[in-house]
Amino acid sequence: MKERIEELRRQLNRHNRLYYVENAPEISDREFDELMKELERLEAENPEFADPLSPTLRVGSDLNKSFESIEHSRPMLSLANTYSIDEVDQWVSGVRKSLEGEEVTICGEMKYDGTSISLIYEHGRLVRAVTRGDGTRGDIVTDNVKTIPSIPLILDPDSGAPDEFEIRGEILLPWDAFDRLNLEREANDEPLFANPRNAASGTLKTLNSAEVSRRGLDAIFYNVLSDSLPFDNHYDNLKAAGRWGFKIAPILRRLHSIEDVDEFISHWDLERKRLPVATDGLVFKVDSMRQQLNLGFTAKSPRWAIAYKFPAERALTKLRFVNFEVGRMGIVTPVANLEPVLLSGTIVKRASLHNEDIIRKLDIHDGDMLYVEKGGEIIPKITGVDKAARQTDSKPIDFVHTCPACGTELQRVEGEASWVCPNKYGCPPQIIGRIEHFAARKMMNIDGIGAETATQLYERGLVRATADIYDLEPAQLLPLIGFGPRSAQRVVDGAEESKKAPFDRVLYALSIPNVGATMSKKIARAVGSIDRLMAMTRDELCAIEDVGPTLADGIIEYFADERNQKNIERLRAAGLQFEVEVKEQAGGSDVLAGLSIVISGTFSYHSRDEYKGLIELHGGKNVGSISKKTSAILAGENMGPSKLEKAQKLGVPLWTEEEFLKKIGE
Ligand code: IVH
Repeated sequence: MKERIEELRRQLNRHNRLYYVENAPEISDREFDELMKELERLEAENPEFADPLSPTLRVGSDLNKSFESIEHSRPMLSLANTYSIDEVDQWVSGVRKSLEGEEVTICGEMKYDGTSISLIYEHGRLVRAVTRGDGTRGDIVTDNVKTIPSIPLILDPDSGAPDEFEIRGEILLPWDAFDRLNLEREANDEPLFANPRNAASGTLKTLNSAEVSRRGLDAIFYNVLSDSLPFDNHYDNLKAAGRWGFKIAPILRRLHSIEDVDEFISHWDLERKRLPVATDGLVFKVDSMRQQLNLGFTAKSPRWAIAYKFPAERALTKLRFVNFEVGRMGIVTPVANLEPVLLSGTIVKRASLHNEDIIRKLDIHDGDMLYVEKGGEIIPKITGVDKAARQTDSKPIDFVHTCPACGTELQRVEGEASWVCPNKYGCPPQIIGRIEHFAARKMMNIDGIGAETATQLYERGLVRATADIYDLEPAQLLPLIGFGPRSAQRVVDGAEESKKAPFDRVLYALSIPNVGATMSKKIARAVGSIDRLMAMTRDELCAIEDVGPTLADGIIEYFADERNQKNIERLRAAGLQFEVEVKEQAGGSDVLAGLSIVISGTFSYHSRDEYKGLIELHGGKNVGSISKKTSAILAGENMGPSKLEKAQKLGVPLWTEEEFLKKIGE
């Protein structure tokens, strides 16, 4: 049995590599799945042969824990940067001079724009994945990295890899996965990632490795470190790492002269746009390891390498006018409308100017010629004004003082650069925005009500408050542009189906200020029902985890408004869920009533979030920091020494996981 399990693991690891690294699969997805299923079954039947690096365990778990950090064996330095080809040429000459005229071969590669990672392998197995951190210490993110299918967990014993080595590279989110993720986030009303780099580093630090697995990260490696490297040059060592099973930098050229270097730059400056992953420049490295050693390091970077960064693409275009848009929460955003201009392959006509302070800082006047840039960002950005081209009599752009949609006088948000329209219930874009938000996928998920339909529903007087959605009949929807009997029925059916959405989604759908997806879950779990929430005082609200005074005030103000009360009553009458389902509450008790409990350390039976839920389910309160008032600490493994000391000083009892579970009768 053991042999079969090992054979399956070997085969699956090999096919994984053929598929994800070499792009040359030998078997169909179906055959792969069959092997995987067989291994899953054998592992389940023979737990004594379990292995944490088995290919069956790449999918990740839901366990949430924060990351431990560790010191790098060799610091992860950065590269000296330049935007000038001249400076690259000077670097090549400088290197030659330092090496007293020796022949120098330079390795040219892409500078991948993701987040750096260091992997440690011992005896052919991945033992640790560590982020760059501050260069000296990084976070251990092994569980998340294990979900990246192109990273080998166990190397083929015949691969020729040294027994111990470190390999460094870049974790990337390829363009197509990045676009997919952002589309999804847009549909869910979540903030978009500005570029694949942010998305990759954000994803790598996500606490839920199942979510990491879903997002489609990839990794490309560019540096191998070991006391027993097979070759005396970077190029051959990296190619060797390719044979050990790593996806190595596919663009890797040996360059022998300054002319070769310049040609490499001009070729890839254009070609890189066709690559499936984001790049922000090129890296040149001295190929010979002996020469690298001779050249050494400065405090920050190696002397044997330099990065040439591609300049951000920039265009100059005329400002036609600035318009002001009002969002769901009433915030007014200025938008520059431009003469259309081609930038990095897309036509740019509009760019957000964000707020009044930015307009002032850029000093934008009517009819100015503006610089628009698209660097690593996907969203075009106005970066400056060509003041020489300015008409002498042009006037600075004034921020509006009244709402462009409803004429109400705007109010400045305290401590922020934004202005808001306070006419929440009479200002059309705010109402339309709330309808659209209410129906969106992560909220009530009513198929067929997007931005355009929300606008039509409002303009035709069919929906003014979100509760009106539940009174809609197919016949009323037929006159809407783009609607037929089927789409009309779809909206009505979608509304009916949405009545099953759990309380936390309903709470999120209501557009209570600052109550987003995560906060609505926390509140729903803490309070259990809308009636309790509506009756809570500011102090009671602030006792909920992560609820501060501003958020509490927003909630109180929201429920104090009669229009909201009435809308909620109508939604309740329509059948929406305004309580945490009994099923979710099953097994609750009051054994922890009146107790404030701190959770610390890592756990084996439940995740931290689950423990939070369990404390609340049994009447207790989960608090963040230890004080005189703390009743007990639910202490897992590796509780921080300072917390331990504080607990002992204050005489707060520590409960082990098992003791806690016994108390609540689990
Ligand atoms: S070599 C001693 N090669 O750029 C530095 N780095 O500013 C060794 N990067 O943190 C790094 N592509 O994350 C190297 N082909 C490449 C690279 C690359 C991207 C990143 C890396 C590093 C940063 C340096």
